[in-house]
Amino acid sequence: MIEESFERIYGSKPEVAARAPGRVNLIGEHTDYNDGFVLPAAIDRAIRMAGRRRADRTVRLHALDLSDSVEFGLDSVQRDERHSWSNYFRGVSNLLLANGFKLTGADVVFGGDIPREAGLSSSAAVEVATLAFWRKLAGLDFDPVYGVKLARRAENEFVGMPCGVMDQFASALSREGHALFLDCRDLSFRHVPLKGDVKIVVSNSGVKRALTQSEYEIRLKQCRQAVAQLGATGLAVKSLREVDLDDLEVAREALGGLLFRRARHVVSENQRVLEAVEALEGGDLERFGQLMYASHESLRDDYEVSSRELDTLVELARRQPGVLGARMTGAGFGGCTVNLVHAEAAEDFARAIRAGYKERLGLDAEIYVCQASNGALTA
Ligand code: GLA
Repeated sequence: MIEESFERIYGSKPEVAARAPGRVNLIGEHTDYNDGFVLPAAIDRAIRMAGRRRADRTVRLHALDLSDSVEFGLDSVQRDERHSWSNYFRGVSNLLLANGFKLTGADVVFGGDIPREAGLSSSAAVEVATLAFWRKLAGLDFDPVYGVKLARRAENEFVGMPCGVMDQFASALSREGHALFLDCRDLSFRHVPLKGDVKIVVSNSGVKRALTQSEYEIRLKQCRQAVAQLGATGLAVKSLREVDLDDLEVAREALGGLLFRRARHVVSENQRVLEAVEALEGGDLERFGQLMYASHESLRDDYEVSSRELDTLVELARRQPGVLGARMTGAGFGGCTVNLVHAEAAEDFARAIRAGYKERLGLDAEIYVCQASNGALTA
């Protein structure tokens, strides 16, 4: 319990506790920073945070999972390269202050059970937990979507990772038993019930996402270049969201092979999200699963962000009874796959994937059967 950890470290009970979940993305990968559609769900693994006010302007922050502490002053919040884990908390606090919110000094502890660097958004969960924490401790009042945008800006500007808005949004505004259908252009969203006797099963490849940030930046740039190239052919668009596959065919030569494939992934993935939402709402889980496989192939071949480990996990999943669909989830280059599995087949699935992964690659996969959970700021 986070309250007990707080008491052990600081010698008294905390005043408040907050919690923010990790997320898994069911479909809609690398679309958020292209103004596109995504369909994530918060999972039942979370960052928990507890704290009490101090009389001064100091924040003392303790990371349970790293057994590490750091202190900083609220009057000039700086990045800390040596305790880089603290930058998510610092970044959100800094932006709240810059936007006129009043914070107090505080003793804080946090920790959780979201595997780090596994593509399940433990960083976004720390950011959103920080929002939920300050909301309680300092009595802040803000609209949840405002909070989400602020958390994303903290990650972009303070931490320096040019991510889209999906992870913070899912951690903040998901609903239990539902997926979150989000339009990243105007941030309108709808909760879509996950009906039927199926489980969301996550397979962790165990491979940390080493290349992720540099390759992520390259993909982001390539999408911008594709938009510029389309403009040069006379198609004035702001983002790949506004483009369809016919537009891409017309501009194929101007784009060149690489940008064409990158753009085709984004454009086709947006289409798949729309179809997946329709399938989910219509109870057609078979179709939903097929779209997951197609998403994986597009990420593997056109966007080139998969890996041997992720491909192996998807291939293994395809052959198991009771599996509707499988794909890599998150930024790629390691991390996890997400699988939609009939509930009664889930245990055998987990066993078979662990054994197959060991046999094929000599590696250990961790399998999590997830519940779709509430976000930290869900009303
Ligand atoms: C990471 C980013 C998200 C999103 C995904 C890819 O999780 O943080 O914003 O771009 O990658 O879909």
